[in-house]
Amino acid sequence: MKTLIKNGMILTTENEFKSDILIVDEKIAAIGKNLSEEGVDKIIDAEGKYVFPGGIDQHVHYSFVYQGSKVRGFETSNAPALGGTTTVIEFVNQVQGKGLLESIDEFKTKDVDGIAMVDYGFHIVMTDPRPEVIEEIPKLAEAGYPTLKLFMAYKGQFFHADDDAIIQALTKGKEAGITVMVHAENGDIVDFLTKKLIAEGKTGTYYHAVSRPPVCEAEATRRAIYLAEMADAPIYIVHVTCKEALDEIRAAYQRGQSVYGETCAHYLLFDESVLDQPNFEGAKYICSPALRTKDHQEPLWEALNKGWLNAVSSDHCGFDFAVQKHMGFGEGKSFADVPNGAPSVQNRVNAVWTYGVCEGKLSRQEFVNVIAASPARVNGLTEKGHIAVGYDADIVVFDPDYRGVMGVANSLEGVDYSIYEGMEQKGRPETVLLRGQVIVENAEYVGKKGQGKLAKGKPFGSAYDKFKKA
Ligand code: URP
Ligand code: ZN
Ligand code: ZN
Ligand code: ZN
Repeated sequence: MKTLIKNGMILTTENEFKSDILIVDEKIAAIGKNLSEEGVDKIIDAEGKYVFPGGIDQHVHYSFVYQGSKVRGFETSNAPALGGTTTVIEFVNQVQGKGLLESIDEFKTKDVDGIAMVDYGFHIVMTDPRPEVIEEIPKLAEAGYPTLKLFMAYKGQFFHADDDAIIQALTKGKEAGITVMVHAENGDIVDFLTKKLIAEGKTGTYYHAVSRPPVCEAEATRRAIYLAEMADAPIYIVHVTCKEALDEIRAAYQRGQSVYGETCAHYLLFDESVLDQPNFEGAKYICSPALRTKDHQEPLWEALNKGWLNAVSSDHCGFDFAVQKHMGFGEGKSFADVPNGAPSVQNRVNAVWTYGVCEGKLSRQEFVNVIAASPARVNGLTEKGHIAVGYDADIVVFDPDYRGVMGVANSLEGVDYSIYEGMEQKGRPETVLLRGQVIVENAEYVGKKGQGKLAKGKPFGSAYDKFKKA
């Protein structure tokens, strides 16, 4: 199968140029002006459009269960496709008593194979650090899963991890090129403040932010960085939200430590005031870490530009509002009973374009970096994240002139609300290709269930070398 994308303005992390792209089967075979149409099966006219690599969302939750309630799964993974994301990396919790790979395999067989509509990888969340589980860590790299995550937050939940687990994971992981990732919030402080607020009758959704202030995140970020320094291993801080945590990352980076961090679209766009809405609407925005005051947003954009943060992820959690978010509603309930997380996977790329590129906060080159190239590098996805010969033909043809409104009416996320409801959208993916196959055409999802394949990552990605040299 040969496809030719003609006359698009190709965006890379370095530059932009008008050119054609020839795709042969799953790969980009040639890039150049006036490529021959001979033997080509399909021509896509990209005149007036931008062409960039399919987004890589390195932080999604299609299997997360919070207080017994599960998010929407891979059956809704046409949503990232429609939003210009062609690869997602899912956090799979290790099942208590089971192995790391066993837990991934079980989820993959039952809930991913034959269902996924975009390519995918997995970050295992180590929840049960028995000695034989620690010994298993290097096997993750062989299987193509070069990351391992620990939750420093959520004290009292089975997935909460203490420092001993982090030290062991860092030390063992380093042997095999596994990058350890942490959700950095001090679980004990959050637990203390949550109990205190509830005892004072402060149970409304706004108090979610009060229960986990920036200091919780800064302290845990700093601790994780020092644990990594001790182990001489890289560390990856997921969903960074605040100036105080950025200060820790920047300082470590400037000391020459291998530290990476991502932020998420909602921390760039919303502030904590949205938690304080009538009719329990604030629950829609309960995620952890919590949304911050507005003054944290500019430093996050700056950090993306300077490379102190590598990516904008979604931290997508498909909990619905009517039933699941309402677990925290009513007599005897509080913000602490609301499932954490918000749906965001479909709007991530469009939000970064509209509120980043169009507002002059990111260049188009930085945009490509934070939505695709850098996540590919950090996760060792060496065949994805770039428009270049030999790479997977995961490609977005983007119409910059489209004007619309984001919201649940256009969402494939399978839930009853959108945190982006009513917000302006500038531009949209018009055509999306997944390894050469058209999965979005005229801004409609046209792919098939099960088209997504496992994208195996290489140990440490290439980011490890980059940071070691810095
Ligand atoms: O609130 C969030 N982010 N929920 C999902 C789990 C996590 O902490 O990443
Ligand atoms: Zn603890
Ligand atoms: Zn988290
Ligand atoms: Zn998350």
